Amino acid sequence: MSRSDRPFDLAAWLETHSRSVDAALDRFLPKASVRPATIHKAMRYSLFAGGKRMRPALVLAAAEACGGREVDALPAACAVECIHTYSLIHDDLPSMDNDDFRRGKPTNHKVFGEGIAVLAGDALLTQAFEIVAQSRARARYSHQDLVLELAKAGGPLQLIAGQVADLEGEGKDLSVPDLRYIHERKTSALLCASVRLGGMSANCTPTQLKALTAFGYNVGLAFQVIDDILDVTQSTEKLGKTAGKDVAAQKATYPRLVGLEKSRKIAAQLTRKAYDALDPFRGKARALDAIARYLLERDH
Ligand code: IPE
Ligand code: IPE
Ligand code: MG
Ligand code: MG
Ligand code: MG
Repeated sequence: MSRSDRPFDLAAWLETHSRSVDAALDRFLPKASVRPATIHKAMRYSLFAGGKRMRPALVLAAAEACGGREVDALPAACAVECIHTYSLIHDDLPSMDNDDFRRGKPTNHKVFGEGIAVLAGDALLTQAFEIVAQSRARARYSHQDLVLELAKAGGPLQLIAGQVADLEGEGKDLSVPDLRYIHERKTSALLCASVRLGGMSANCTPTQLKALTAFGYNVGLAFQVIDDILDVTQSTEKLGKTAGKDVAAQKATYPRLVGLEKSRKIAAQLTRKAYDALDPFRGKARALDAIARYLLERDH
């Protein structure tokens, strides 16, 4: 059997790469003992609480598909995880989704209080830009390109826009296009930026960047459809966050709008579109391909 015929071991790949990401995050962040210790403890509490690390995995897998080195992709991988974790800390606040559990532990505001949780989110968001600025500029991609990519995905037209529309949609009968608008922004934008940043760190060609964009957009949408499905089908224990909260808060979700069965079909369709986008890589995007499958089939 030739090397490329061997089945791809995603579990081993994820373990190795998550370890690199965790070590890099530990290096990039101030130590928990640095004054004011409360904020550094609070940042690290949520960051190292046991997230799946899917966004950093997408950065590193995209870099790999484009022939890049892990070391060049690690700053972007850490930066997207910092933005993601900040968005979760704020998403869980009583003034937003009011959640008590996250990543199998009490939420940041439950442990540190609301004031520090707001600041821990602010600090992780700012830290993300300090980290991405330490990336190596490439022939095709300047520091400005990398910073803009992250700023746009996390900004008021993308992640924040999605969170605003999500809050404003509570209790309303939104249309499927309205829900798509929310999912594109609150979730897909950062997943798409993750794969794009991975490609950029590897000095990818414009054709590769286009393929990665289509892949990330569709995987990102599928990711949130699955998140909506898991909220109604899985237990709190399995999810590490309180199950059934979307129904309780009357959130606009795919299961609410189109039912469970149709939601599953939509997630599978989006994942198929993501696979198709990988065609230009001709078998060199094995980690990306395996991650897309794992995200569709995940149970937490
Ligand atoms: C949860 O993201 C928030 C969404 C955008 C749906 P994840 O499911 O990736 O959460 P962690 O990082 O594993 O905790
Ligand atoms: C969260 O969406 C999206 C962001 C944090 C940007 P959800 O509110 O559905 O995420 P969970 O279910 O709390 O993880
Ligand atoms: Mg939310
Ligand atoms: Mg939430
Ligand atoms: Mg959710």
